[in-house]
Amino acid sequence: MSFLDLAKRRYATKKYDITKKITTEQIEELKEIIRLSPSSINSQPWKFTFVTNQTVKKELAAQSYMNEASINDVDLLIVFSVMENIEHFEERNISILPEAWRTGFYEPMIKSNGEVATKSWMEHQVYLSLGYFLSACISIGLDATPMEGINREAYKKILPKDGYTPLFAVAVGYADINDWTHPTVSPKSRFEQDEVIQSI
Ligand SMILES: Cc1cc2nc3c(=O)[nH]c(=O)nc-3n(C[C@H](O)[C@H](O)[C@H](O)COP(=O)(O)O)c2cc1C
Repeated sequence: MSFLDLAKRRYATKKYDITKKITTEQIEELKEIIRLSPSSINSQPWKFTFVTNQTVKKELAAQSYMNEASINDVDLLIVFSVMENIEHFEERNISILPEAWRTGFYEPMIKSNGEVATKSWMEHQVYLSLGYFLSACISIGLDATPMEGINREAYKKILPKDGYTPLFAVAVGYADINDWTHPTVSPKSRFEQDEVIQSI
C-alpha cells in the first residue's frame, strides 16, 4: 500500500476490538522500529516503556482520563518519556557525538539558550518519534491512539524511577469495526492544501 493510502487509513482509534490480539513478534518489531527513530544530531533523549503487564496497564489506564477504556481494551501501551537530567544527557548522549555536532550545533544553538530551552528541545525529539511511530504502526496493520490525555505525575509514580519523565502514551491494537471515528465512517477533517501548504 502506498504511504498516501496508509495516511488515509491511519486514525486515532477510539474503540478497539478486544478479541484481536497483538503478537509477541509484532511487539518486538515495534521495539526495534522505535529504537531506530530519528532525532536532531542523533541525541535520542528518550525512553519507550512497553507496558503489557495487565496490572500496571490498568493502573496507568485509571490515570488517563478519557483514554481509560482504550488502554484497558488493548494489550500494549507504550509510554514515551524524556530524560530529566541535562548533565547526564550531555555525558551519555552528547559526549559521544562527532565534535562538529557538539561544538557546531548543540553548544551554540541549544545549550546556550539555557536549561528550559534545552529541555524543550529534548521533548521535541520525543514528540518527533511519535509521528514516525504512528506511521510505522499502520504500516504493519496495527491501529493506535496517541494520548497526551494522561496524568504525567501519576504515570511517573507508577513507572520505574529511572530518571525519565513521561510525556505521552500510545495504545496499540486492532480497531473495532464499529468505531464511529474510523475514517470510513467519519472522514478525516483537515484544512485544505492551499491553507497549509505554500509553494514558492
Ligand atoms: C500529541 C497528540 C496527542 C493526542 N492525545 C489524544 C488523547 O489523549 N486522546 C485521544 O483520543 N486522541 C488524542 N490524539 C488524537 C488527535 O485528536 C487526532 O490525531 C486528531 O484529531 C486527528 O485525527 P486522526 O489522527 O484520527 O486523523 C492526540 C494526537 C496527538 C498528535
